[in-house]
Parts: sequence; C-alpha cells; structure tokens
Amino acid sequence: MFQSITYNGTKEQNYSLVLKQLKALIDGEPNVIANLSNASALLNEFLDDVNWVGFYMMEDGELVLGPFQGLPACLRITPGKGVCGTAVSEQKTQRVEDVNAFPGHIACDAASQSEIVVPIMKDDKVFGVLDIDSPSTDRFDETDEKYLNEFVSILEQYI
Ligand code: SME
Repeated sequence: MFQSITYNGTKEQNYSLVLKQLKALIDGEPNVIANLSNASALLNEFLDDVNWVGFYMMEDGELVLGPFQGLPACLRITPGKGVCGTAVSEQKTQRVEDVNAFPGHIACDAASQSEIVVPIMKDDKVFGVLDIDSPSTDRFDETDEKYLNEFVSILEQYI
C-alpha cells in the first residue's frame, strides 16, 4: 500500500525523496500506462499549487492525452502547437512563467497560469511529454525544472 508522507525537508531533499518513490513504484512493472498513471498520482500528491499533472503520448505524429490528474483536458495536440507541442518540436523542456504570454498556448483549464512541459524521449524520438499546470504565475523555478527533468529520465528507463 502506498504510504502518504509529509515532505518536510528542503525542496531538493523532497524532490530526491519523490525520485526514490517513483523508482519504487515503477520498478518491476512493464506496463507503461500503469507506470505513467502512478507517476502522475505521485506528482499530484507531492506538488503543491498545481491544478493539472499528466502525460501526453505521441501516436501517429501527434500528442494524445494519457494518464493524468486534474480536469478533463484536450485530447490531441499537434507538434509545434501550444506549450506541449513546442516541447515536442524543440525536444526541450518548456518552463512558462505566464501562459497568457505564450503564443499559441492551449488553455484546457482556465485556472492555469504557469506551466512546465518536459519531453520524454525513447530511441532518440519524442515518446511523449510530462505536463504540469499551476493556477499561480511563475510557479516553477530552476529547481523544479532540474528535478522534473530527472523524474522524466527515470521514466525513460522504463518505457
Ligand atoms: N496548456 C497545454 C495544453 C495541455 S493542458 O495544459 C493539460 C499546451 O499549451 O500545450
């Protein structure tokens, strides 16, 4: 059974703990949907001030909604469009301080004000993205980016 814990260390210590929890949750389970489901639930439990945490996965050249926590969201996103599609076309993490100032941002939840999207790579191709939205402007800093990139690096070992 998953034990809820209080993350009461520094931000770095808390993230390190989450990375260990992720490994423990997915180690030994080959099913990608199961692992991404637990990964989104874990991040949603850990992160404060977020309103959407989840995954989009590439299928036939476009991103398709995958496991997530939050309000129902856009089903398909074209590479190059929105924050998620930009993360795909640039193959680079997008950390957006104010989504209202991001050209082409796709609003799935009107509450979202800032967003971070991390591409997930497999065999040198984009497999999908991790997408996290916050109702606060400038919610994600460099530390979030560093550890969320590590979070995705762990997932990449299991997909
Ligand atoms: N805002 C994203 C769309 C996905 S939702 O945030 C869940 C984007 O601009 O790509």
